[in-house]
Amino acid sequence: QASGPLAGVHALITAGPTREPLDPVRYLSNHSSGRQGYAIASALAAAGASVTLVSGPVALAPPRNVNLVQVETARQMLKACEDALPADVFVSVAAVADWRPARAATKKLKIKAVDTEAPAMELAENPDILRTLSNKRKHRPRLVVGFAAETHDVEAYARAKLERKGCDWIIANDVSGDVMGGADNEVVLITRETSERWPRMGKDEVARRLAGKIAAELGHDGGLK
Ligand code: C5P
Repeated sequence: QASGPLAGVHALITAGPTREPLDPVRYLSNHSSGRQGYAIASALAAAGASVTLVSGPVALAPPRNVNLVQVETARQMLKACEDALPADVFVSVAAVADWRPARAATKKLKIKAVDTEAPAMELAENPDILRTLSNKRKHRPRLVVGFAAETHDVEAYARAKLERKGCDWIIANDVSGDVMGGADNEVVLITRETSERWPRMGKDEVARRLAGKIAAELGHDGGLK
């Protein structure tokens, strides 16, 4: 039986990119490394939570004491999250592709034919996992935390995102510098009433602090701040 301030709490985390197939050999994706999400999953597990980590394709070792569910597409990620409910807290760190190729061909596309025009790619909108879980009527996690990567007007955009998605907190990353893929992060924690800017620190330290905040919010804050 786990001990720690989050013992008895089920935490659901998404991390990494999604990968949206165009055909069997090609896909749309992004540069998310998964590091911040994996660090948060580890920190919550270390604080005693039972953790489900739904991860897109990354080059990281599975964190210890975490139930890892590996997915590729946004739609698989949403399904895996819904299957993992109920959860007490949902932390949506994944860089989910907003769009996917409308059709994934089952055979490799021949798109390099001579004397044709550049091929067009039709896109379809992916589900918004954070908004979907934030608006669940049954099984809405007690605390829903989203992420927002912004380069300017960080707080204003993040606060607007909090309203639009219906989540409780937003961790806004200032990605105007070199935090993408790196070991450090610079974040602002935005709640409905407050905002607090944290100094630049390692992603592991961001994760530990966030775990402390989550423990305080969920009412088991012994010794973790
Ligand atoms: O609107 P934007 O994509 O910038 O919002 C970022 C937040 O929303 C992150 O927490 C991300 O994990 C989540 N998100 C999601 N599903 C999407 C797009 C974003 O869960 N399709």
